Amino acid sequence: MSNNIKGGNSPIECELEANKKYAWCTCGHSNSQPFCNGAHRKAEATPSMVFEVPEAKTAFLCNCKLTKNPPYCDGSHK
Ligand code: FES
Repeated sequence: MSNNIKGGNSPIECELEANKKYAWCTCGHSNSQPFCNGAHRKAEATPSMVFEVPEAKTAFLCNCKLTKNPPYCDGSHK
């Protein structure tokens, strides 16, 4: 969507808890990157992508919003 922007130019390292729902920001407007804070509504941009992981892990979540493997960084920011 054309109202989407980059949240940043590099991924954000996150400690993810098992079986917890996370809302990854897809639009780049959130001030709580890499997670959604509802800013997409005012910006008329794309809504969050909710995900969870089966086991706790450290992950690098995409912040440029260009990844082909959301919510994870796939190197597309380079
Ligand atoms: S931060 Fe988006 S692909 Fe790396």
